[in-house]
Amino acid sequence: MSRVAYVDRQYVLHRSAAVHIEDRGYQFADGVYEVLAVVAGRIVDEDPHLVRLKRSLAELRIAAPMSDAALKIVMREVVRRNRVQYGILYLQISRGVARRDHSFPAATKPVLVITSRTRKPTDSGITEQGVAVITLPDIRWQRCDIKSIALLPNVLGKQLAREAGAYEAWQVDREGHVTEGTSTNAWIVTGDRTVVTRKADNAILNGITRLAILDIIRREGYRFVERSFTVDEAKSASEAFLTSTTNGLVSVVKIDGIPVGSGEPGQLARRLCDHYRAHTAAAAA
Ligand code: PDD
Repeated sequence: MSRVAYVDRQYVLHRSAAVHIEDRGYQFADGVYEVLAVVAGRIVDEDPHLVRLKRSLAELRIAAPMSDAALKIVMREVVRRNRVQYGILYLQISRGVARRDHSFPAATKPVLVITSRTRKPTDSGITEQGVAVITLPDIRWQRCDIKSIALLPNVLGKQLAREAGAYEAWQVDREGHVTEGTSTNAWIVTGDRTVVTRKADNAILNGITRLAILDIIRREGYRFVERSFTVDEAKSASEAFLTSTTNGLVSVVKIDGIPVGSGEPGQLARRLCDHYRAHTAAAAA
């Protein structure tokens, strides 16, 4: 079966899909994106993703290429045409195609690209054993709340993690506080079983998985606080974990080579992981 992509108002074969060489996404990283999970052929948390997408577009003053209702139809059609049951949908909107000039072009239509592919659920080994993270200085800009396609520091950070034999890099701000991973949000559980994650300020992306986990925490009555934490506090926490659309919730069992808690996935993280799985399955129902 041939894969299909949606590119600038057309469904095209993925292998021959292309954007213009003067697309501002290509030249300036002048665009935004979303990654959504597909579970049992259904898109998970579609509405919150679209709310965040609209916010990112508004912050960068890029026009929405179509209404939410139309976007939902195209997203679902891309999933359907690619026969994705379990996987991801990638959506990107650039400011459009124009002769290269830093300032906004006068009349340019945004270019929308949507792809979808089958992706195995996170390796059960990863979920069972947890993962290691390293820490790195956060060298990103001051608007990490915008889901922009400019991801070079994230790319470099993830590569350094891989080269260090770790799964993710937790980025650390100038005050020594963890901001987030290169493509995930960061969490710890303190000795008194309080779940801690940074508040969603301009230094982090407000993850849709983060929001879902916060909802679960509130509903289940766990103790939690949104505040910054240092690398040392994380290393001496009783549990740590990361969240994202592509990972769900994964325990962090080592930070810079130091075991967190027992060095195994913690009990609270496991429970939250189960709740989150139920949440995604419900979205697919
Ligand atoms: N990454 N922080 C950063 C920097 C991210 O890039 C992501 C998502 C998250 C988690 O957000 P969410 O829960 O909405 O997926 C946090 C996506 C999956 C990616 O770039 O592939």
